[in-house]
Amino acid sequence: MSVFFVAVMSANGKISRSHTAHLDWSSKADLMWFKHITTKVGVVVMGKKTFDTLNSPLPGRLNVVMSHKSNRQEIPNVLFTNMPPKFLVKMLKEKGFEDIAVVGGQSVFTLFLKEKLVDEMYLTYEPVIIEGIDFFSNLEEDVRMKVINTKSLDSGALVVHYKIVSWEKRYGREV
Ligand SMILES: NC(=O)c1ccc[n+]([C@@H]2O[C@H](COP(=O)([O-])OP(=O)(O)OC[C@H]3O[C@@H](n4cnc5c(N)ncnc54)[C@H](OP(=O)(O)O)[C@@H]3O)[C@@H](O)[C@H]2O)c1
Repeated sequence: MSVFFVAVMSANGKISRSHTAHLDWSSKADLMWFKHITTKVGVVVMGKKTFDTLNSPLPGRLNVVMSHKSNRQEIPNVLFTNMPPKFLVKMLKEKGFEDIAVVGGQSVFTLFLKEKLVDEMYLTYEPVIIEGIDFFSNLEEDVRMKVINTKSLDSGALVVHYKIVSWEKRYGREV
């Protein structure tokens, strides 16, 4: 089983213009790629703010939406949860999902990375520079990865598939 991130970022490493903005700068080709890889696994985990940027739940996939508020209205194909991520992964595994796509935003990516619950990442780099928010916030450790493969999209964007190798405490190196 693999838990992986799927994210698109600008050439300067930003994932959104703000915490509430929808993605108006990434390519249609990346959207198609996102649809392909997430529909294959059948489940996407996202934060409530990301869910709020969508027009509707992502079809053909169980939309797991992390929120501290438990009294949410019932929406078909959407599961609101405040489960700690470790238990969420266990629950989805027990439901029969072989892989889990974690699709953002910044706070959910940061949570899964800090808790070492992610194995791989598919990161699309769009050839654009924007002002905005980073992929992660306040990381305390470095994360070493290796590149499994890369592919170009029709839009000129580049998808890099990484596998996480290790988490390392940061020690300042003097030169
Ligand atoms: N470029 C990309 O690939 C990409 C992907 C996804 C999103 N984005 C962008 O990222 C932005 C949103 O990112 P964000 O960091 O502000 O928000 P987010 O991670 O999408 O959602 C944050 C919300 O998730 C809930 N949450 C977070 N941690 C939780 C936990 N441990 N337990 C329960 N609920 C938890 C909380 O909801 P409650 O307040 O309801 O408790 C929190 O306010 C948007 O602009 C979106 O477009 C970009």
